[in-house]
Amino acid sequence: MKKILITGGAGFIGSHVVRLFVNKYADYKIFNLDALTYAGNLENLKDIENKANYVFVKGDITDEKFINELFAENDFDGVIHLAAESHVDRSILDPLQFVKTNVIGTVTLLNAAKNNWKDAMEGKRFYHVSTDEVYGTLGDEGLFLETTPYDPHSPYSASKASSDHFVRAYHDTYKLPILISNCSNNYGSHHFPEKLIPLAINNMKNKKPVPVYGKGENVRDWLFVEDHARAIDTIFHNGKNGDTYNIGGFNEWKNIDLINTLCKIMDRKLNRAEGETATLITYVKDRAGHDLRYAIDASKLNKELGWSPSLQFEEGLERTVDWYLANEEWLNRVTSGDYQKYYDTQYDKR
Ligand code: NAD
Ligand code: DAU
Repeated sequence: MKKILITGGAGFIGSHVVRLFVNKYADYKIFNLDALTYAGNLENLKDIENKANYVFVKGDITDEKFINELFAENDFDGVIHLAAESHVDRSILDPLQFVKTNVIGTVTLLNAAKNNWKDAMEGKRFYHVSTDEVYGTLGDEGLFLETTPYDPHSPYSASKASSDHFVRAYHDTYKLPILISNCSNNYGSHHFPEKLIPLAINNMKNKKPVPVYGKGENVRDWLFVEDHARAIDTIFHNGKNGDTYNIGGFNEWKNIDLINTLCKIMDRKLNRAEGETATLITYVKDRAGHDLRYAIDASKLNKELGWSPSLQFEEGLERTVDWYLANEEWLNRVTSGDYQKYYDTQYDKR
């Protein structure tokens, strides 16, 4: 049975990746390593938590002793590394936490993999999940390619860029078998309501102001999270050792256009008068260093490995709104902080 370590599996994207791997690969044992920070929620994985090929490990990727012991005990065949501090606005408030988790945490994992695999690198894979924000910002034209020079602007993207460099350095220096993907903005179920789409849905639902930074003219390229999980599966199994793949939705939206589309969906779903939800839109002070436009060219992944996004954005947004409206309890528990008690009741008694 192959042993695969997935870090950050209790978070938004990680929980979709864990679910996909646990359900698809009965012959893999999936270890979900997560520190359960404010962003980690085991309720995201309730549907698979009792599966025989799944195990949850609570731990911190920056804890060197713990990580070394975990690798020594388990001799993992592969690592899919998603654990990170992921929110740009938090990185502006507390950059050092992003250096600790995203840089030191990644290097701690790289060291453990290098030391544990040193005599048998063949067939191993260290897959680092990164972001398109490392490339900086685009003007009106052009797309990010795998060869676009790094130019991060926020403490978050600087920490992710740094971690990407370390991953490549371990490949070049120690021959560690690595893969990196840089993905655009994800959306879908289980997204923590500090990020634009779930925050807006939650506020619209509760008739609270919907904050739009600046003039709402910044552009993001949105991808349905389950399509990202499928891309990770494809790259993990078929990607070329040492290579980088861009992942994106070919789906650019100005923030204000996206918010207006969401307002229309919410009017319809909540039986409100047309235009009622849009009255909640409130322009607020812009994010410092706010990147204007991200857009990914994902054609390498399509041509070489055959991946493409499966969902149209309108359909994905509808499904996302439906999920949040049907999972009011999840949203309430996350916004109240109650979900953090789940681990104590669910796991400490075992
Ligand atoms: P998230 O914030 O929802 O989840 C992060 C997870 O990592 C949480 O479960 C958290 O508990 C865990 N974690 C944080 N610090 C840890 C530590 N020290 N030790 C162990 N676990 C720790 O993040 P997400 O949005 O799911 O992003 C996952 C990854 O994908 C990140 O590496 C992020 O940079 C990358 N990414 C995200 C997006 C996006 O749109 N969300 C796009 C491209 C790339
Ligand atoms: O591009 C990939 C990145 O996408 C990931 O690496 C990050 O982990 C992820 O958080 C996301 O970063 P963004 O900064 O693009 O996502 P966020 O949801 O925070 O913001 C999306 C856009 O909406 C951005 O232009 C800022 C704006 N915004 C955000 C919030 C939270 C608002 O206008 N109002 C808001 O309240």
